[in-house]
Formats: sequence, structure tokens, C-alpha cells
Amino acid sequence: MKSRWWKEAVAYQIYPRSFYDSNGDGIGDLKGIIEKLDYLKEFGVDVLWVNPIYQSPNDDNGYDISDFYAIMDEFGTMDDFENLLKEVHNRGMKIIPDLVVNHTSDEHEWFMESRSSKDSPYRDYYIWHPGKPDGSLPNNWESFFGGSVWQYDEQTEEYYMHIFSKKQPDLNWENAEVRDKLYEMVNWWLDKGIDGFRVDAITHIKKIDGFPDLPNPQNRKFVQSNAGHANQPGIDVFLSEFVERTVKNYDVMTVGEAGGATFENARHWVDQDKGYFDMIFQFEHLGLWKADDGSLDIDALRTAMSKWQTGLEGKGWNALFLENHDQPRSVSTWGNDKDLRKTSAKALATFYFLMQGTPFIYQGQEIGMTNVRFDSIDEYSDSGIVNLYEYETGNGRTHEEMMKYIWKNGRDNSRTPMQWSSEPQAGFTTGTPWFGVNPNYPDINVEESVNNPDSIYHYYKKLIELRKDLPALIYGKYELIAKEHSQVYAYLRKYKEECYAVIVNLLDEETDFYLQDGLTCENLLLSNYSREDVLGSAMHLQPFEARVYKVMNQSN
Ligand code: NOJ
Repeated sequence: MKSRWWKEAVAYQIYPRSFYDSNGDGIGDLKGIIEKLDYLKEFGVDVLWVNPIYQSPNDDNGYDISDFYAIMDEFGTMDDFENLLKEVHNRGMKIIPDLVVNHTSDEHEWFMESRSSKDSPYRDYYIWHPGKPDGSLPNNWESFFGGSVWQYDEQTEEYYMHIFSKKQPDLNWENAEVRDKLYEMVNWWLDKGIDGFRVDAITHIKKIDGFPDLPNPQNRKFVQSNAGHANQPGIDVFLSEFVERTVKNYDVMTVGEAGGATFENARHWVDQDKGYFDMIFQFEHLGLWKADDGSLDIDALRTAMSKWQTGLEGKGWNALFLENHDQPRSVSTWGNDKDLRKTSAKALATFYFLMQGTPFIYQGQEIGMTNVRFDSIDEYSDSGIVNLYEYETGNGRTHEEMMKYIWKNGRDNSRTPMQWSSEPQAGFTTGTPWFGVNPNYPDINVEESVNNPDSIYHYYKKLIELRKDLPALIYGKYELIAKEHSQVYAYLRKYKEECYAVIVNLLDEETDFYLQDGLTCENLLLSNYSREDVLGSAMHLQPFEARVYKVMNQSN
């Protein structure tokens, strides 16, 4: 039934609120996406993942859905969505919306019914619990956005669970009626002709029985609660049912957001015959900094990437990414967003894009957009960050400490409006943008990038073309080389008689590199420095230098 077209695809993620505003209200919208489809087609991407577009009070920018069957007013109408779908398909592209089924908004009618009375037929749609006999919270679990996962509701004198914000109550997947309603909704969207889903927070739908307190050796007020709800035994029952009753019957692509899924049970998630998703986003390669000096831990990165690359070979498929709307910008985090911005962004692109899997590019990544620094917490929007700031400053951390943390890690770094041009507001809107534009837009914008052949945008385009031209870069086996090098990440892609080498200096310093015995460079296909005739096995690499070679492999 499934044709696995998504293996050859390149995906692009759109955060609609910040992508392009077509009507001057300061908020990106569906018509804005339609206006930019030619740009995306020309860039070479095949699949668009669009963050939630459903009706929502926007406590968490659309991840708090109040009506699964309606489009958020600010984004447009259902007609606009249908137009978008048609226009995407007319251009030979595909579209996968976000599917959020771990929780709804507290303004969803199910929740409003549920909270109205203990006897409501909707009571069990959510997770309600009385406090402990001494009146304290039901347990010590911490929400991802800070504070307890429990919110007291005066109306019925019980607590409801929310692992994200208190405006995102968790649905009770133990209730078969809830699951039926969700599957019905999923099929309604699939029947519209969408091409799949990115499935939000899906590892969290199963909570452990009885919601016990978690071990708390450091005696903290609340403890990180993944052990209570991430990838817990029993989740498989829900996931297989979800697949059977919905996506299995359509030729679509699914990518599960699977924080907490470990490689050891990854086969369940993405096995090509029996897996629940075609691919998953897992996060083991992010945040690998050395404890002593905060620099990138290349050994840990090699281990994390290679484990998934080799482990899924012939068995499942990877989703490849460096950025999304929850992560800071990669060029600021891993690269050098000052004097080596372009070079380091290209190096990072080369590093992940040519591995085995479907590469995802997050809006703005293709032009090297950077993190942003606003001085006041009032200039920030992400409820996750704002809640955390309030919680932590309320518990003794200083404003300066928290801002430093936010500048480096905050999700809003990647949510500033897309920088289209050097026009006011980066050409994103003619009105007042819903969220601050990064002041570097006069230098970093799409217009500049498209017109400059040496830009990050054109480098990505070449990577996309290379991947389309060479099946080895899609289907080839991944093999890590130079396993001990202190700053170069290098690997081969081998397919039939062909072999390619991807060599990336991930640090800001020059270094020597030797391509191992048995491999001879035949042809330099791509580099982020101007290089012509560099075919020897011994090479001297400049800071963040990346090279892709066709190689002859005598050991084959
Ligand atoms: C993961 C999403 O990517 C994130 O943006 C959101 O806040 C949470 N899930 C809750 O839906």
C-alpha cells in the first residue's frame, strides 16, 4: 500500500505565524504560504510540514487546539486551506500538517464540558485527580514549562494533568471514546487529501498507572517527569491501534515527534514493516556540549548520529534535522554566527543533509538566520519560556541569569519572523509583526540570498540537487570514518559500486585530515571554500570547511 515516496523527498518546515503575512495584520497566514510556494518549489523542496493551523487561543502558538475541524481565524479559512492544498499539489509538492493529540486547549469544548462536573460524560476525556489526603498536589511531576503538571480546578475541587502549559490539559488515552473521536478527526483530515502528519508529543500519550511520585534524590520541589509519561510500557497498544485505524489506509508520510524514544526500542517506532511511523524526530544529537568548556562534543555527536544511522540501515528510516521551532538557530548554537556565519552554516548543512534519511530544513535555516537577543522578558512570546522565567525568578534566579539562558536556549530564537528582504519588518508584513523581527534582517534575508550565488541558500540548493542526482546519497549505506578525529566529522555513503565521502570540520580552527588508506578522491563535488584541484588523501581543512567527494574505494 505504501510507496515510500518520502525517502527521496526533502522536507521544509513552515511556522505559519512567522512565515509570511498576506494581509498586514502582523501575523503570517495561509494565503501568505500560498504566495511563497514558488519560492519553495524553486528552492527544490518536496514536502511542507506546517505547524498547527487549527482554531486555538494561542497559549502555545497553535499547540493548544480548541477546534480540530476549524482553521485559526488569524491564519484564514478552510477554503484557504483547501486552496493551499491544491496549490501545493499543483506544483508537485506535498503537505503534512501537525497533529496534536496528546492534549487540547482548555478552551476545547470537550474540556469545558469535562471541567463542568464530575458527572459530565466528558469527565474522563482528561486526567483528573484529587489531591493527596493532606491537601497537597497528587504527585511531584514537573511540567515541561515549569511548575507542577497538576492544576487545581475550583469548580470540582480536583486537579487536571497538563505536561505542557496549564492551558493544554492532557487527553486521557485510556478512554476508548477519546481515541475513537481522535481517529475520526485524523481520518477527516486524511480524506481531504493531505499527505501525512508530523505527530506532536506522541511519546507522551501513555502515563504510568496510579501517577506515583517519582524518585527525588535532590529533594527538589518537582522532578522532571519523563519517567511518568515518556515512552511508557503500554504505549504500543495505543500506537498500533492509531496506525490500524487511520494512516495505514492511506499512502501518506508520518513523522512522530518522539522525545524519550530510545534507540533500543526505535525499531518499534520506525520498523519499515511494522513501525508506527515512517520516521521519527529523536533528539539525541542535540545539546551535546562538553562539560568543561561548553564546546561541541564531537565524540558524543558521532556516537549519537551513527547509532541511528547504522542501526536503522535496511530496517527503518531517519528524519534528519538540526533546527525546528523548538530549537535555537543552529548557526548560533553549533556554528559561528559572526565572521564565519555563511561558512559554518554551510558546514552544518553538509554534515547532516547527506546522511541516510529525509532531511528537514526549518524556515530561515536556508539563509542562515541567527538567534536573537531581546533585553526584556516582555519582548518574548513563548509561553514555555515566559512561564519558566516567572517560575525560576520567583525561586531565586536573577533576571540576568535567566536572560542568558533564554538567549542561548529559548524557543523564540527560531520564531522571529522570516526575513524576506531588507524592507521594513524584513518584508514579512506591512503591519506590526506579532513578534520582534531580528534586527540583522538588512544583511540576512531571502532576497540577498537568492541574488548571491555564494549564499547559504544556493549551497542548500546544490545539496538538494546532489541528493536528487545521486541515489547513493539517498539509499547508500552510511559508514563512519576518522572515528577518532578531534574536530572532523566524516562518513561515507556506499551504494552498489559507488562511494562518496562527506568530510566536515565542525570547529572554528584549521586542521589536518587524512582520508583513510584504500580510499582515493576522484572528484570534488561540493565545498564551502573555493577549491578546485584538491584530490589528495591528505588535506588541510580551514575552519568549518566541508567537502563532498566521489571516491574510489579499493577495499570494496
Ligand atoms: C512539541 C512542539 O514541537 C512544541 O512546540 C509544543 O510546545 C509541545 N509539543 C506541546 O504541544
